[in-house]
Amino acid sequence: MKKSRKPWGGRFSAPTDRQVEEFTSSLPFDRRLYRHDIAGSIAHCRMLERIGVISREEADKIAAGLEGIRRDIEAGLLRFSPELEDIHMAVESALVERIGPAGGKLHSGRSRNDQVALDLRLYLREETARIISLLERLKDAFLDTARSEIDTILPGYTHLQKAQPVLLSHYLLAYWEMLDRDETRFRECLERINVLPLGAAALAGSSLPLDRKYVAQILEFPRISGNSMDAVSDRDFAAEFLFAASLCMMHMSRFCEDLIIWSSGEFSFIEISDAFTTGSSLMPQKKNPDVAELVRGKTGRVYGNLICLLTVLKGLPMSYNRDLQEDKEPVFDTVDTLAGCLGVIGSMLDGIKFDRERMLEEAARGFSTATEIADYLVMKGVPFRTAHGIVGGIVGECVRSGKTLADLRLEDWRRYHSSFGNDVFSRLDAKSSILSKTVEGGTGRKQVKKRIEALERLRSKRRKADR
Ligand code: ARG
Repeated sequence: MKKSRKPWGGRFSAPTDRQVEEFTSSLPFDRRLYRHDIAGSIAHCRMLERIGVISREEADKIAAGLEGIRRDIEAGLLRFSPELEDIHMAVESALVERIGPAGGKLHSGRSRNDQVALDLRLYLREETARIISLLERLKDAFLDTARSEIDTILPGYTHLQKAQPVLLSHYLLAYWEMLDRDETRFRECLERINVLPLGAAALAGSSLPLDRKYVAQILEFPRISGNSMDAVSDRDFAAEFLFAASLCMMHMSRFCEDLIIWSSGEFSFIEISDAFTTGSSLMPQKKNPDVAELVRGKTGRVYGNLICLLTVLKGLPMSYNRDLQEDKEPVFDTVDTLAGCLGVIGSMLDGIKFDRERMLEEAARGFSTATEIADYLVMKGVPFRTAHGIVGGIVGECVRSGKTLADLRLEDWRRYHSSFGNDVFSRLDAKSSILSKTVEGGTGRKQVKKRIEALERLRSKRRKADR
């Protein structure tokens, strides 16, 4: 009878069905973890040496073998046989092939259950750090554009109905705030990713005197997991990462939605550079904001990944279950999608031309300074509700007679309320409306400038610390 050739095949008398092999294999996607798998194995091997489970020579042989495998993978010289279930077994079998029986000692006191948890944490730790630096760069791009557009006035909307004039800078800095919260979320997530699960073995820990602190030290983990059953079944850190990614994508998607609307002929507030738009194969006149649309579209896929992992996790009995193999693809796909979007948005933002005149023209339209007129009356002692009613009446009459507020003469104003004086005329345009916003956190030019300067100081502090 043909025996199983698997590393776990001892108790099996028949080989695995071909279909099952293909069905259960994670190698096509988890090979991405090879570097982390090898780093984890070298650390484990050095620890086994330290506690006397393997000799110095064996450890050196194993470590050198693993390094060689890494180099060969990187050079594209190593082809894994598809019957190897996953990257962990693939590396181990390559090791045994290269260094002989000593390779078989590496897995002492370890299970793939704690090994895969370690690999995923090492991978996410690195990728989260990369996402954080991409976020920093994107925040910088928003800040720089806010600085260069400090005098640009934009009609502000609520319900996509013209509301009040705002500074474009103020709008851009709103995204800075969102991205900053995203960054904080990823940093907090990093704390929970950064815990060593190795030593949990299959679920119960090990009877070998494993020195987990030593492994943690080599792999630079500030903490080791406190419960072996939790350690092999916990994917909270990955779910958190996916949630942070989902929120971040949502922010970018909203920004892209504005870009899409603003670049339409009807709005014409911006022109996205040719390098970041595409044409139509049929309509020669078209210039489409495909990049922005794709970011918006890809947001759905990242949400899907979050729901995918949460659903994989929800019914699992303690502790490790093979379902957990399904954690990797949503994580990998999210990392790729998010990193791609963060990069492309920053570059697209740099190439956007804002049509300042057009924005200003629209900002002044549609009675967008009506609130300022109501505030004007409030400052003259009129109760706000009354002022609101009076100005509403003025707007209504203007709409019916096809006039704007600027068409009204002093006697018209005074017909509505005796508190109106000549100073009302300086309250009617978008610029003065913005100048009047003195409240902290508001769109007043002084306030926005103060904010830009504060954020620039923060940035140079960060850059100094990074150096
Ligand atoms: N490929 C598996 C995963 O991704 C590795 C762990 C398998 N463990 C096991 N006992 N079958 O989760």
